[in-house]
Amino acid sequence: MTLAIIGGTGLENLAGSLEHREQKTVTTPFGDAWLTKGELDGSPLIFLARHGLTHATAPHNINYRANMRALKDEGVTNIMAAAAVGSVKNEIKPGDFVVIDQFIDFTKNRAATYSTDGEPLYHTDMTEPYDGGLRRLLMTAADAKGVSLRRGGTYVCTEGPRFETAAEIRMFQTLGGDVVGMTGVPEVVLAAELQMPYAALCIVTNYAAGLAGHGLTYEECADEMERRQATLMDVFMSAAKAGKLL
Ligand code: HPA
Repeated sequence: MTLAIIGGTGLENLAGSLEHREQKTVTTPFGDAWLTKGELDGSPLIFLARHGLTHATAPHNINYRANMRALKDEGVTNIMAAAAVGSVKNEIKPGDFVVIDQFIDFTKNRAATYSTDGEPLYHTDMTEPYDGGLRRLLMTAADAKGVSLRRGGTYVCTEGPRFETAAEIRMFQTLGGDVVGMTGVPEVVLAAELQMPYAALCIVTNYAAGLAGHGLTYEECADEMERRQATLMDVFMSAAKAGKLL
């Protein structure tokens, strides 16, 4: 298999630790994507920086179609992604890790499919959007490293880049949401359309609006991400090494 790891903020060092690495711009019919190709313990690994080369692309402007198509064109067979999230529930705390197993889509304005009016037309099954084998890989890696994590959770994806209102978060609670983020959809959907099994490990960077007891700032999220960065990278490296046995 050829594994890709998709990271937002906090996983840049992973790309830097690949052997024989090469930074590459991949041009697709949907636009360009930037990735690092290399090897980990002799197996191919591709790191894709979701927010682009300079981390400047906002969640609602990310070119998800170019990113996923570039991975497919580079021969990727499996994807593990990291995502920063806010917690919608008191018992899920900043600093926690969650291997999500469902999503609810509240995005509004994104190119969310490769379907066209002719071919291809995808009505993709999303009953279980996250791959069971890859989820187990992430959970086993965390267990082996002594990192506790939640085994399952529903990810609510918002359009961003603004944070939510307190009322929106109360609504997400009643809908069964566990965590809220801005980048998980349509990434997982597009991966499915291109038949690349996908799993995501979320890092809780903050309590969501109304639970925090104060207004939210991006800095608060970035600080928590920084605190968990080394552990996050450890879990991904360990899962990737185990994954080559798949
Ligand atoms: N809301 C949406 N996205 C996020 C949050 C949040 O509270 N924290 C990190 N990403």
